[in-house]
Amino acid sequence: MPKKSKPTFYITTPIYYVNDVPHIGHAYTTIIADALARFKKLDGYDVFFLTGTDEHGQKVEKAAAAKGLKPQELADKVVVRFKDLWAALGIEPDGFIRTTDPAHERGVQKIFARLLEKGDIYKGTYQGWYCVGEENFLSEDAPAGPDGTKVCPDCGRTATLVEESTYFFRLSAYARPLLEFYEAHPNFVRPQGRMNEVVSFVKGGLRDLSISRTTVHWGIPMPGDPAHTIYVWFDALHNYLTGIGYDGDMDRFRKFWPANVHLIGKDILRFHAVFWPAFLMAGGFALPECVYGHGWWLKDDAKMSKSKGNVLDPYVIINAFGADPLRYFLLREVPIGHDGNFSHEGFIHRTNSDLANDLGNLVHRTLTMIRSYFGGRLPAPGAETAEDAAIREAFGRVKAAVHTHYEAYALNKALEETWGYITAVNKYLADSAPWKLAKDPNERPRLARVLYQAAAAIRGVIYLVYPVMPGSARKVWAWLGEPGAIEDVPFAGLAFADFDAGREIAEPTPLFPRVDLKEFLAADAGSAAVKAAGPEAREDRMDQITYDEFKKIELKVALILEAEKVQGATKLLKLKVDLGTEQRQVVAGVAESYKPEDLVGKKLILVANLKPAIIRGVESQGMILAAVAGDKAVIPFFEGEIAPGSTVK
Ligand code: MSP
Repeated sequence: MPKKSKPTFYITTPIYYVNDVPHIGHAYTTIIADALARFKKLDGYDVFFLTGTDEHGQKVEKAAAAKGLKPQELADKVVVRFKDLWAALGIEPDGFIRTTDPAHERGVQKIFARLLEKGDIYKGTYQGWYCVGEENFLSEDAPAGPDGTKVCPDCGRTATLVEESTYFFRLSAYARPLLEFYEAHPNFVRPQGRMNEVVSFVKGGLRDLSISRTTVHWGIPMPGDPAHTIYVWFDALHNYLTGIGYDGDMDRFRKFWPANVHLIGKDILRFHAVFWPAFLMAGGFALPECVYGHGWWLKDDAKMSKSKGNVLDPYVIINAFGADPLRYFLLREVPIGHDGNFSHEGFIHRTNSDLANDLGNLVHRTLTMIRSYFGGRLPAPGAETAEDAAIREAFGRVKAAVHTHYEAYALNKALEETWGYITAVNKYLADSAPWKLAKDPNERPRLARVLYQAAAAIRGVIYLVYPVMPGSARKVWAWLGEPGAIEDVPFAGLAFADFDAGREIAEPTPLFPRVDLKEFLAADAGSAAVKAAGPEAREDRMDQITYDEFKKIELKVALILEAEKVQGATKLLKLKVDLGTEQRQVVAGVAESYKPEDLVGKKLILVANLKPAIIRGVESQGMILAAVAGDKAVIPFFEGEIAPGSTVK
């Protein structure tokens, strides 16, 4: 008889831009996907979990230029950061796609050419506003910015006006098919509220979408017209096809497509729930089952951003606590669709109370008692009392409820349910007081039963939390003397009674560290955290430079000889400075903070090897250093004796 093949489950994360290193927001999506993939594997599915990096487009091109790198060089550097972080977080994807993989590029070109031939892509001219930050064309109703510009409604940055020859995708033709599709598949976008958002956007009318650029060079060239680069979102979305083998390993592609769930942040819903299904319809592909838009993580109630300096570095947490507490917190704290607020206080409170106290202590106490009262091997337990039976039966109910929650992607509820059971087991232990039973030799069978019941319950709990905390679960599984790997036990086959008493129980070590808030905050606040994290973590900040790079900047003491206003510029002063061996002319934006006559005779720091530039028609041969305080500039002046031209380092 042919072997019955397993049902398949294909789950994806967005592919991440490589303009910067990953932060907790990226980690969040990928952790959810990892937990769901692990659950589905336990539940008997043949799973493919895909993640990767989005390496093309203007954003990456600009970030690379700013760092003096080629885009491919930047991508090659940053992709390692993503892969390392996933490993550090216990994330094990089945595939990792990079959009610079030649197989992906070929697949995208093939689909592009097919749509062109069909007439779904046509040539025209695009005139409008483009936001590089979001890699997005703005609609006409985007808010106005200064001097007749437009502002990106998503990120608030001023957009760029572009007018260029382009290829359009006939999105307008798909408005009706999309609406019909949504109607027939009301769970296509989840949570439900986001579906409504998508439907009203499409009902508002769809314009054709510009999907090629001639002014962007970092991307996939258009087949047959290489002056055009394929729009980064058209390129990126197709990773979901090429990442499982489209146009290469077609057997694998047919096995997994269409995806069961595209997990994304709510910020990129429109791309996934409107553009993507329209591209797929045009290409003749089946549509995914669901696009799940999760919420946004804020830091202390504010959006994380580089300029605010509140972007959470996952390594600070991983190095202090390990990966599992972070995975647990992110998945337990909020339902997937909601926004969450990350505060160190909240995180530490949960870790100490749920993990160190509730689960960690339960495991530690029980295993230690089995070792000290029975030398690590439980004898056959005595008869089951009503209390013992209640703990066994409750497990069956909890297991069924947890299964339902995992299936519904309600990870927080699965954990809540499990923790309800942990509390019950802790109460059972407290009520049964094995430490008292241990004092009476006649109570050995009873003592064995209580510890057996607790160990069997721990085995069950550990299995249920495995998708969320795989590292800790594997550890406890081994302590319990389980012969096989935890992931080899099918969810359906997990039974309380499968714990057999005679096995050797290992000596446990603390599962979760208790961390003091003050110590942790101190570590996080400064370089101490970075130091504690070791050289790899120090390496992890893309914005850090080496000493050799710093040395390239020539800083010198300059004496101001003359100062005057630059005609027609309210903010600028023209300075003549003495560098000991030469004199230079420098333009500085300090006119609103200093009067020219107050500057003469002062000594300050000059960047002496900056390429000269013409500012408002005046040549500037260097740059002075000043602090920026709102609209004001504050120049650090030298007080004592110091010769002009001295090196500053
Ligand atoms: N490259 C595109 C996606 C292309 S998918 C075909 C992109 N990349 S991104 O690097 O900006 O990251 C996108 C995803 O990171 C968001 O959709 C979201 O999943 C996640 N997050 C980034 N910051 C986040 C938070 N602060 N909170 C939660 N998730 C966030 O967009």
